[in-house]
Amino acid sequence: MSRFLKGAIPSPNIWNTPRIYELENRAVDPDGLAEAAMASIRPWTAATVLDIGCGTGYHLPSLSATAARVIGVEPHDDLVRLAGNRCRALPNVEIHRATAQTLPLPGSSVDVAVARWAYFFGPGCEPGLAELSRVVRRGGAAFVLDLDATRGAFGRWFGQSVPSYSSRAVEAFWTRQGWSRRPLDLRMVFERRADLEAVLRIEFTPAVAERAIAETSGLEIAYPNVLRWKLF
Ligand SMILES: C[S@@+](CC[C@H](N)C(=O)[O-])C[C@H]1O[C@@H](n2cnc3c(N)ncnc32)[C@H](O)[C@@H]1O
Repeated sequence: MSRFLKGAIPSPNIWNTPRIYELENRAVDPDGLAEAAMASIRPWTAATVLDIGCGTGYHLPSLSATAARVIGVEPHDDLVRLAGNRCRALPNVEIHRATAQTLPLPGSSVDVAVARWAYFFGPGCEPGLAELSRVVRRGGAAFVLDLDATRGAFGRWFGQSVPSYSSRAVEAFWTRQGWSRRPLDLRMVFERRADLEAVLRIEFTPAVAERAIAETSGLEIAYPNVLRWKLF
């Protein structure tokens, strides 16, 4: 059996080094801007929330604190297991081994769908968008939160690490799909310099990571993101 489902887009940062990715998740957005922005558009109190590409399930406990039911979907076997361990004591959380393209859910069963740092949502993800249209109920919303590679040092480092990535093509794709967008100026704030450096090393190619480390003083990194959403 393969360790991940067909249709999964490799995410080397979390697939190969989930412990370091955990440090990244802990550092990102200490101000809670992302959840506040999403909740201001479509709150999920007492609602059914779907986290697509939930990884190790880092965000499931906070979603489950106010939602009635939280469903995590993740195609990588090891991460499904880690997410299950994390959420074992949470009765309103369930995890499924699945992809965005084949959601194991009935139609009109979700109020709010979220995909964070989900590069599988971009040009070519029409099957995933069709699944969102099928499972999200009328009155619901779908959110995709991702790095804004057009802004800041982080965007520049990303562009140098993944030269094939075209911000223009990504933007044009979402415009064609009719999704709304809002820039979010997130931050990563670390407790230890060694953690910041380890995270930069899993996000960028070795040469770019060393440049990023040299350019970054202290414990904080600006992390420009863009929140995209569609109301159903
Ligand atoms: C960068 S990680 C982010 C994980 C998680 N959202 C978080 O915030 O911690 C991207 C995740 O998307 C998953 N993924 C990749 N392709 C996918 C697909 N086609 N459908 C659903 N998830 C996918 C990866 O396995 C990985 O766990």
